[in-house]
Amino acid sequence: MNNFQQQLLQGIPDALPNLKSYDKEINHAPKRKDILSEDEKKLALKNALRYFDAKHHAVLLPEFKSELDTYGRIYMYRFRPDYEMYARPINEYPGKTVQTKAIMHMIQNNLNPIVAQHPHELITYGGNGAVFQNWAQYLLVMKYLAQMTDEQTLIMYSGHPLGIFPSNKNAPRVVVTNGMMIPNYSKQDDWERFNALGVTQYGQMTAGSYMYIGPQGIVHGTTITVLNAGRKIAKHNENLAGKLFLTSGLGGMSGAQPKAGNIAGCITVCAEVNPKAVHTRHSQGWVDEVISDLDELVRRVRKAKEKKEVVSIAYQGNIVDVWEKFDTENIYVDLGSDQTSLHNPWAGGYYPVNLSYKSANTMMVDQPELFKEKVQKSLRRQAEAINKHTSKGTYFFDYGNAFLLEASRAGADIMAKNGIDFKYASYVQDIMGPMCFDYGFGPFRWVCTSANPEDLVKTDVIACEVLEKMMEDSPEEIKQQMNDNIQWIKGAQENKLVVGSQARILYADAEGRIKIAQEFNDAIADGRISAPVVLGRDHHDVSGTDSPYRETANIYDGSQFTADMAIHNVIGDSFRGATWVSIHNGGGVGWGEVINGGFGMVLDGTKEAEQRLQAMLFWDVNNGIARRSWARNDEAIFAIKRAMEAEPNLTVTLPNMVNDTLLENIFKK
Ligand SMILES: NC(=O)c1ccc[n+]([C@@H]2O[C@H](COP(=O)([O-])OP(=O)(O)OC[C@H]3O[C@@H](n4cnc5c(N)ncnc54)[C@H](O)[C@@H]3O)[C@@H](O)[C@H]2O)c1
Repeated sequence: MNNFQQQLLQGIPDALPNLKSYDKEINHAPKRKDILSEDEKKLALKNALRYFDAKHHAVLLPEFKSELDTYGRIYMYRFRPDYEMYARPINEYPGKTVQTKAIMHMIQNNLNPIVAQHPHELITYGGNGAVFQNWAQYLLVMKYLAQMTDEQTLIMYSGHPLGIFPSNKNAPRVVVTNGMMIPNYSKQDDWERFNALGVTQYGQMTAGSYMYIGPQGIVHGTTITVLNAGRKIAKHNENLAGKLFLTSGLGGMSGAQPKAGNIAGCITVCAEVNPKAVHTRHSQGWVDEVISDLDELVRRVRKAKEKKEVVSIAYQGNIVDVWEKFDTENIYVDLGSDQTSLHNPWAGGYYPVNLSYKSANTMMVDQPELFKEKVQKSLRRQAEAINKHTSKGTYFFDYGNAFLLEASRAGADIMAKNGIDFKYASYVQDIMGPMCFDYGFGPFRWVCTSANPEDLVKTDVIACEVLEKMMEDSPEEIKQQMNDNIQWIKGAQENKLVVGSQARILYADAEGRIKIAQEFNDAIADGRISAPVVLGRDHHDVSGTDSPYRETANIYDGSQFTADMAIHNVIGDSFRGATWVSIHNGGGVGWGEVINGGFGMVLDGTKEAEQRLQAMLFWDVNNGIARRSWARNDEAIFAIKRAMEAEPNLTVTLPNMVNDTLLENIFKK
């Protein structure tokens, strides 16, 4: 057994590892709000010390107290392992089942410094999307996974491994909950308090569920969104050449925008205040050019428009300045959006205009009320500038980052005339919902656990063949989606999308997902693919997420504020064969604003895997289509009727439509 394997099996070491110095080269999480009272701080310390033998408490206590005082959280930096953090080939992990080894592969990918946003604070993306709350949890989880059999299930409470319980071979190996709260305790400050106490965490979507595959997942979704937004504004079916897309954020997900803009063929300007984030995306080749002077930016954009260049430009500075400058300079913006992290507005998700990045980071901790005022003022200014552009014809859409929600809370002029809706639609209302989710198309993904790029090439070829075959007799309604995804998979290798594990994403419907998975399983069985493949998806999907301003924003029967679909989804996945399942409060739009869930499924080439994939993937997509069809969405009614024709064991309750005139007449005096 090698050193790495021994360390995994050891879990929390008996002897204290050496103290670690704070690595300034790494992108660290911002200091969190100092929210705990003295008694609560004592409780947080007691909670943290539960993981360690009492003989270490005298040493660890001052150290953890200092972390709590300095960073607002106890990360237990000392226990961060010395070995390199990345997804190793599956056979390098110790363990008794391929299922748990595959999960270790996925966890290490989520914490890989080239993938994770704040790797030392165990944050994968979105500023606060945690895999674990602290390093003790990581060490214990890896040990449990290395020890357990396929007759056991590991129970995860918001990063904390409660224990391994007896179960059975068909049960999930891991069941994860993140941030599940009593509903009345789900405000932003509740997250600050209970996370600081060490009893909950914000798992985002694919962070706390071990399913993040780097920015590729989001490049794909963003490309599909920009392409379809382009189709919405196209007057004569023209493409996006020479058109300008203005947005913000070069972080975990937002960093995909310039790359997606290039793939979609437009000019992208993306503002980002954090120089480290700009540098990361530029050095990775995800954005072509960096400009930090507004006049220079204007000149560059004019030139790009004139020459119809396909180019992406990072503006190092505040997005509000760009919206205002482009207005005064009369630069026409064709498509506009925003991807600052407004799901987390008061703790580093949004940087107000006219305040330096550094001062903002200090103010949000030392003067939180003043910082809040500045954020809200900045949002009002941003909305005002956007309104000026839209009055000239810009198509602006909310990118599911709670921009419209927070701008409305800040009192910005962003409400529609009826005072209920926003002036602008979200990308799900206008684009993703009707064009993708209602038909069952969503972010299906897979990871080759051999870590061998050749396996990924083989899976790409297989997936492409499956889609091309399906395209031959797919109905007109879904041909555009099929075609976009065939083009995507054909260009995937050339676009060099892999960062971290050997992963691929594409949008497919239930039939596509099942057929692709089936072919992978066969290829593993006959050795064409050399090791198990993990299937999964983003939670941002047809059925996985209830979120009234995002995934379920195009549900109009009032049920967009319920979360039955997401809860049913995870329960249904768990008994139909998922290898792991997870359900989260928060993710994308913020704590208390969304319930979302996901799964991971290990394909190992066996007959059992075949049965599981068929049962689970069918449910995992059609649950959401059935709900969307009950909400009277035409596209979903079409899709669920097709599913019922194909599967005689499926019976879904269909809605009857009411004649609107009949309804209106009854209210006429
Ligand atoms: N990409 C998608 O498909 C998608 C889908 C749904 C939601 N979202 C949402 O988009 C948001 C961004 O996600 P992320 O993972 O990139 O978060 P992130 O925190 O990693 O990145 C956001 C970036 O915005 C920058 N920023 C903040 N205020 C700014 C300002 N005023 N001007 C310029 N830059 C500013 C920050 O410095 C940060 O780097 C989240 O709320 C996420 O939920 C993204």
